[in-house]
Amino acid sequence: MLHGKRVLLIVSGGIAAYKSQELVRLLRKRGASVRCVLTRGGAQFVTPLSLSALSEDKVYTDLFSLTDEAEMGHIQLSRDADLVVVAPATADILAKMAQGQADDLATTALLATDKDVLVAPAMNVRMWTHAATQANLATLRERGVHFIGPNEGDMACGEFGPGRMAEPDEIADAVSDFFEDSAPLSGRRALVTSGPTHEPIDPVRYIANRSSGRQGHAIAAALARRGALTTLVSGPTNLPDPAGVQMIHVESAREMLAACESALPADIAVCAAAVADWRVATQASEKLKKNGSGVPALEMAENPDILATLSATANTRPDLVIGFAAETEDVVAHAQSKRERKGCDWILANDVSPETGTFGGADNTIHLVSAAGVEDWPTMSKIDVADRLAERIIEQLGAAE
Ligand code: C5P
Repeated sequence: MLHGKRVLLIVSGGIAAYKSQELVRLLRKRGASVRCVLTRGGAQFVTPLSLSALSEDKVYTDLFSLTDEAEMGHIQLSRDADLVVVAPATADILAKMAQGQADDLATTALLATDKDVLVAPAMNVRMWTHAATQANLATLRERGVHFIGPNEGDMACGEFGPGRMAEPDEIADAVSDFFEDSAPLSGRRALVTSGPTHEPIDPVRYIANRSSGRQGHAIAAALARRGALTTLVSGPTNLPDPAGVQMIHVESAREMLAACESALPADIAVCAAAVADWRVATQASEKLKKNGSGVPALEMAENPDILATLSATANTRPDLVIGFAAETEDVVAHAQSKRERKGCDWILANDVSPETGTFGGADNTIHLVSAAGVEDWPTMSKIDVADRLAERIIEQLGAAE
């Protein structure tokens, strides 16, 4: 099953491109999300509209499209995927890949990606057996590109031999095999909190904070992509539910704690939510009115600390409990004392002073504070922070075994 996996499918120009439509359908049926890039040649055989309908996503075609570039830059396009699949791959695109050419969106994405690439070649038998193609193939294999097919059989050009693209179900199986080999957290359970909490004052008003949920959501997605059975407990955000996670939507801190406890046992808990420290002690059952008797006095009560509670859970404490510390000064020192106070294993400390733009922004600068010391991470996107954290978790759980 491919739940939560994101495939970038590059369709280049060969008659086998019609089979790629079936591939999109099969990959999605297995749970993957598929985003397509169609080359100019590919568009001679299938239309962007049919790929878009099957993938239920936009189809990207043009390197120099201002709209595409604004929505999803070509670098991000290939980095946002877990696997890039080129099907069909023509002799031409193989040659460009081997040479590192980047003269359209597909080849640029292929040159810019830091993800694995699976290629399903499809071409005339003589083109396939040509020394130039075979040399390109050898170069690409040496660089770690994965291949499926081509198969031997009758060809659209009337010849017989190797050159037919692997069948869509064979390619889908190769994609599944790839992810099975790359799911180091399969069999593990993860619990992630994300977003702000809303603490009601009366039926229409609440106390909230500016957390966007981007970091927590990215962490849940990163753990799910690595095979963990992931529950994401989130306060109200504007984000879509990440693919492949079990989602529990909550509003208040107390609801968040109850949802977390219901999701135990877990091997990993990451508390990235910006939980409100206080709530209004007694929520008014009717909307508070301006009635001339002055402003209402809100009595506050302390909210449960979810991170501390999970860290202190008697029988079902997760093996690795990770919290965040958003600080505006003395970031690491505060994080060290927070780690001890809350009883968690790691604290990811970050500076959220307004000039950093971390709160609600796309980037984060992390210091990982553990019993072993402090790791300073360079500034990176919240998505990259999530991936790096997931890799560190894998390392840690592996070392503990
Ligand atoms: O104490 P402070 O809010 O700075 O701690 C931040 C860390 O504690 C975060 O990981 C946050 O998710 C967690 N936390 C929590 N429950 C609270 C307050 C904070 O889980 N009530």
